Amino acid sequence: MIIAALQFCPSFLDVKANQQTLASYLEAVEADLVVLPELCTTGYFFHDAAQLHAVAEQHNGASMRFFRELAADRNMAIVAGFAERDGDAIYNSAATVFPDGRVEIYRKVHLFAEEKAIFTPGNLGFPVLRWGDRLRLGVMICYDWRFPEAARTLALKGAQLIAHPSNLVAAPRLWKPVMRTRAFENKVFTATANRNGEERRDDERLVFHGCSQIVAPNGTMLEEVDELYEGWLLADIDPSKADEKSFSQWNDIMADRRPDSYDL
Ligand code: ACM
Repeated sequence: MIIAALQFCPSFLDVKANQQTLASYLEAVEADLVVLPELCTTGYFFHDAAQLHAVAEQHNGASMRFFRELAADRNMAIVAGFAERDGDAIYNSAATVFPDGRVEIYRKVHLFAEEKAIFTPGNLGFPVLRWGDRLRLGVMICYDWRFPEAARTLALKGAQLIAHPSNLVAAPRLWKPVMRTRAFENKVFTATANRNGEERRDDERLVFHGCSQIVAPNGTMLEEVDELYEGWLLADIDPSKADEKSFSQWNDIMADRRPDSYDL
């Protein structure tokens, strides 16, 4: 299975322009599953809730129709971060759109910084999505990297690959080794699609550091790029490699867990 992660710089608040950019990237890539960054249709650094509300969309809104069409045309699954409206609530969500039109949603559980003022915390837990017998997929978004529980929950529920749409502002020297550890400690593949570029608000500036990466269950770096790179990272993976949890002839990192000893 070829997986791909996209690193690019979205245009702030310009959903149409971002759809056009994403369409040209998606038309040019040969992959089975692609991971796009967090909030890839809108950008990130909202002035206030009203600005976010103006661009948020329902899970069956125009952007999802756009991704569904592309997923069907290109016969690929697409994981895309977007601002999801559900009634009065806006979630920082990632949709997984399958080629047959199925759409599954993950809503970011751990909100970062000012996201807490404008988004509602995710209320769907960490679902593991089955793509027939091809793949069991987990999704976490950006700051979820800081919580071992996120990746561990997905791994315990059987995820083979964790897609990680991101708008990371933390230094790559912090999150890159941690995400490599998330892969290694759970023996899963991880694919971090981090945006790059910057956004300004009055005299504040947010810089997104790119440096996207794809990591194998043994912690091997399969693909990584620098901050300025724009385009795809590709890796040819065998998802079943993530089902093998042994560490030695005597040890299996999941079977060896001792939940009775972790009682808080
Ligand atoms: C982040 O969670 N977008 C830093």
